[in-house]
This record gives sequence, C-alpha cells and structure tokens, in this order.
Amino acid sequence: MYKLIRNEGTARRGELVTPHGTVQTPAFMNVATCGAIKGGLSALDLKELKCQVQLCNTYHLHLRPGDETVKKLGGLHRFTRWDGPILTDSGGFQVFSLAKLRNIQEEGVTFASHIDGHRIFMGPEESMRIQSNLASTIAMAFDECVENPAEYDYARKSCQRTVRWLYRCKAEMDRLNSLPDTINRKQMLWGINQGSTYEDLRIENMRQIRELDLDGYAIGGLAVGESTEEMYCIIEAVEPEMPKDKPRYLMGVGTPENILEAVKRGVDIFDCVMPSRNARHGHVFTWEGCRNLFNAKYTLDEAPLDESCDCPTCRDFSRAYIHHLFKSGEMLAMRLCVTHNIYFYNTLLERIRKSLDEGNFQEFYNNNIRKLDTRI
Ligand code: GUN
Ligand code: ZN
Repeated sequence: MYKLIRNEGTARRGELVTPHGTVQTPAFMNVATCGAIKGGLSALDLKELKCQVQLCNTYHLHLRPGDETVKKLGGLHRFTRWDGPILTDSGGFQVFSLAKLRNIQEEGVTFASHIDGHRIFMGPEESMRIQSNLASTIAMAFDECVENPAEYDYARKSCQRTVRWLYRCKAEMDRLNSLPDTINRKQMLWGINQGSTYEDLRIENMRQIRELDLDGYAIGGLAVGESTEEMYCIIEAVEPEMPKDKPRYLMGVGTPENILEAVKRGVDIFDCVMPSRNARHGHVFTWEGCRNLFNAKYTLDEAPLDESCDCPTCRDFSRAYIHHLFKSGEMLAMRLCVTHNIYFYNTLLERIRKSLDEGNFQEFYNNNIRKLDTRI
C-alpha cells in the first residue's frame, strides 16, 4: 500500500507499506542481481548503509542457483538474510540485454543462457512462477524493453503485446498467491509502462495498464539509448496518467542528477547499478562531484573520499590508501568504494525526503543539481 504524505509541485514524499516493512519514498533500491551487492557486500552490511529495499533478478537467479533451489531454501529473504522488502525484476529486461539468440513470440521468449548457452523459454507465466518461488515482496510484470531509437510500428506492436502479457501475469500471480505452498502469498505485482520515445504510445499504454489496478507502476524502456532530455520528456508525458495513490518506479535510472530530475517530475523509486559498478572502476560520488581514485593526484591525499560523509569508509580510510589499493589490485579497494557509493545514494534520497518534509525541495534541487554532475 502506498501513502502520499506530502507533495511539492509534482515531487512526492510518501510511504510504501509492505509485509516486509515500510519504505520511505523517494527511495533508492540497491541492486543485488544474484542476491549480493557486487563488490562484496552482504545483507548485513546493507543495514549500516541506510538501504531500505533490494532488487534481485529473476533471470540470473533462475539460471543460478535456480528458483526451485531458492524455494527449497525458504525464499530469497531467508537465503540472503535480508529481512526488508525485495523487488525482483521480471527477466524481461535481462533476456533482452544479456541473452543471445532470442526469439520473441506471443507466447514468450526463447533465448540462450549467457552462462552455458542452453535454450530456455520464458513467458509471463514462467516469470511469475519463478518470482513466486523466489518469494520477493514485489514481482515485476514480464515485458519487452525495446532499445531506443525504435521504429514507431515496432514499438506499438511490442507495447500491445506487453499489455497482453500483463493480463497473463496478473492471472498467474492471482493463482500462485492462492496456492497453499506459496511462500509469500501476499506478493505484489507491479506493471511496466513501455512505448519507447513516443508520447502517444506511452500515454495510451499507461491508460491501458492502470485499468488493472495493480499495486504499483514502473516506467520501463528508458535510459536505453535515448537522450536524457527525451527521457525527462517521456516522464513528464506519462506522469499525469499515473495513479496518484500508487508507487511509481523509474527502472534502471540513474545518475544522482537523473534521480533529482525524476523526483521533481513525480517518481518515487529508483534502481541502478551505477553506485556499485562505478565504485568497482574507482569512480566515487561525493557532494562536490565525482572522483576517480586511480588519479595520481590522490597519492599523498589523506582526506576521506568525501569530507562531509560519515559512511564506514570515510570514517576510517584516506584517498591515498584507497588509491594505493586500486593500483595494487586489492579487492578491498572495491569494497570500500562500493560501501561509500551505496551510502551516498541512500543519503541523497534521505536528503531529498527531508527537503520534501520541510517544503524546500526546490531549494535543495537548486543547490545540488549542478554540483552532483561535475567531475573533480
Ligand atoms: N530495467 C530497466 N529498464 C527495464 C525495463 O524496461 N523492463 C524491465 N523489466 N526491467 C528494466
Ligand atoms: Zn563515504
């Protein structure tokens, strides 16, 4: 259940109540594709980093260790030792971005595993069954994420098929939630808006999917080839069509700047691999801008990654030390930077929430939008 607490223009401060706990929104979901944050963080580390909700992937966990195995081990919460909310992405996006030799039909998608090449079929029903076995808090609808730019005609047909898939997802989820041996019988289903960069398709699609009265709605198919300006335009076009009393999730976005722009345009929830992926390459986010720890200028720099940060890394370690660890290929370099970046993202969202609570979001936006995007 979503409760809107306050709004400033289209920006929203809210609360998402789930059987695994309440998420204060706007919120960032920390990406644990295979059940761990890449860079070596466990669910126990996450508690210290202000994480509220995790995202895991249907596609990866189906291939390894297998959703049946996770079910036998009691579901993702018990398996990973994370007791807060977990959202699973449906596999739609990963099948299209990772798997090879795919063949899309009305029934679903046949593709070759990125691990060993064996052929797998996944359609709406399969995706729902896998997510039900994983027992996440929130299951995402099985969709096709079309890369941009896309032909209008292809985007229209794909989007219509995704709507038909959504009806099948809903029917299967209702059935699974009524079975006695389902681990989480209160699993939510969220729908995904598609339509490429075409405003008319986006709006028509949103009107169709809101008919189903789902527990939440995502905007998908963005940050996949279009410009950031186009992305913001699509969010602005779809937002008025999104239910006010449901959470809104912008999938796979983005930089701190993108997040601030999207909150301003009415988005509540985000996920992105950036904090962990960038950290593994020595890129850290700070309130003054981004740094690259490989840079030789840090050789003798004893300051923490971010002078104003109180994350476990910044409390104890210097830029000079972390620079040295990267140059020496030590795993600790990644772990320290991932810890900082995850904390930074969750702190960014915390400060956005505070500014909305206090009615000064616009001021927060003005003070930070430029700085967040600079390199230092
Ligand atoms: N992650 C980022 N974009 C998308 C999308 O369009 N669909 C799904 N299922 N996941 C995503
Ligand atoms: Zn820090």
